[in-house]
Amino acid sequence: MSLTAEAPALDMAGAEAFAENVGGVLNSGAVAVMLSIGHRLGLFDVLAALPPSTSAAIAERAELSERYVREWLAVMVMGGIVTYNPAAKTYDLPAEHAACLTREAPLGNLAVYAQAIALIGQMQERLLACFETGEGLAYGDYPCFHQFMAEDSGQTVVPQLFDVVLPLVEGIAERMEIGIDVLDAGCGRGLALIEMAKRFPNSRFTGYDLCADAIEFANETARKAGLANVRFEQRDLTGYGEKSRFDFITTFDAVHDQKDPQALIGGLRGALKPGGVYLMQDIGGSAKLENNHDFPMAGFLYAISCAHCTTVSLGQGGLGLGTMWGWETAKGMLEAAGFRSVERLVLPHDPMNVWFVARV
Ligand SMILES: C[S@@+](CC[C@H](N)C(=O)[O-])C[C@H]1O[C@@H](n2cnc3c(N)ncnc32)[C@H](O)[C@@H]1O
Repeated sequence: MSLTAEAPALDMAGAEAFAENVGGVLNSGAVAVMLSIGHRLGLFDVLAALPPSTSAAIAERAELSERYVREWLAVMVMGGIVTYNPAAKTYDLPAEHAACLTREAPLGNLAVYAQAIALIGQMQERLLACFETGEGLAYGDYPCFHQFMAEDSGQTVVPQLFDVVLPLVEGIAERMEIGIDVLDAGCGRGLALIEMAKRFPNSRFTGYDLCADAIEFANETARKAGLANVRFEQRDLTGYGEKSRFDFITTFDAVHDQKDPQALIGGLRGALKPGGVYLMQDIGGSAKLENNHDFPMAGFLYAISCAHCTTVSLGQGGLGLGTMWGWETAKGMLEAAGFRSVERLVLPHDPMNVWFVARV
């Protein structure tokens, strides 16, 4: 009788099928990084504007090196994104594909999010050290983060701001018409606040953000737009404690990666005047891993969390709740902060996010 347990026989067919899946993951990951490069260089916009064209014509229109463009096009053809006519040696981006890959994309530009995958790759060496030490990183360690975020909210929040987002808060547009004080906390480059300031000249708008470069960009944009009713201030919201200053407070995807989200929500509650409203947009996944299998782009979101959101919170000495902290956690924190009512909403155009309307 043998005392050592025998290893179960390897299911070779299952192992080979799994290896094929991993091959698919590697292929998709490589194509995704090239989507990011195509987006940054404006190549999808060029392709969408041209009829089927040679690599030379595409490179000329994009003012780029033909050799690199041709190799990039090969990736796009293998990835099923661009079609290739070998007889004419021409490449084409079908309109149905351009519909989610260009700056004018009617379905929203998914190539924007490919930049996050490229960014994770860029951060690999720093992240390896974080895994070993348990320490975090600062926002400033991530190149182009605020540009990426502004492109993200520029298509998920700003275009829907007046028709979909603000109507979530009954009566708020009317109050902003008359004139109220509005804060956007963790405003980044401040695009949403600038649009509100343009639309409601009788109201006063304030944006706070930790990062000087984002605030500089926001102030410059407001100056160029000739707006006198909006101001942006670099401010660390850790321990935020202004009292009864604002009628309406928004956060767009800016709570989960804070040092102490509960303390921030409590601070925002205290900064609202009587009758004030807080509108929070954040990532809408569940706090339970097992509930997120069908959540849109859950693997992508956990990857962003591991590489950025958890990391920057830990970098501030914070809790590191992560991108997928869960709508349950957010709701519980809003209730614990003492809001009179907390309403949870999901918008059809934006299934990745959850919206809360919390009233004082
Ligand atoms: C995911 S970004 C969202 C930015 C912006 N609301 C948008 O939608 O584009 C989170 C923002 O929170 C800011 N932030 C993080 N920790 C902060 C802190 N302690 N104080 C102030 N802002 C902070 C970051 O600088 C960043 O701009």
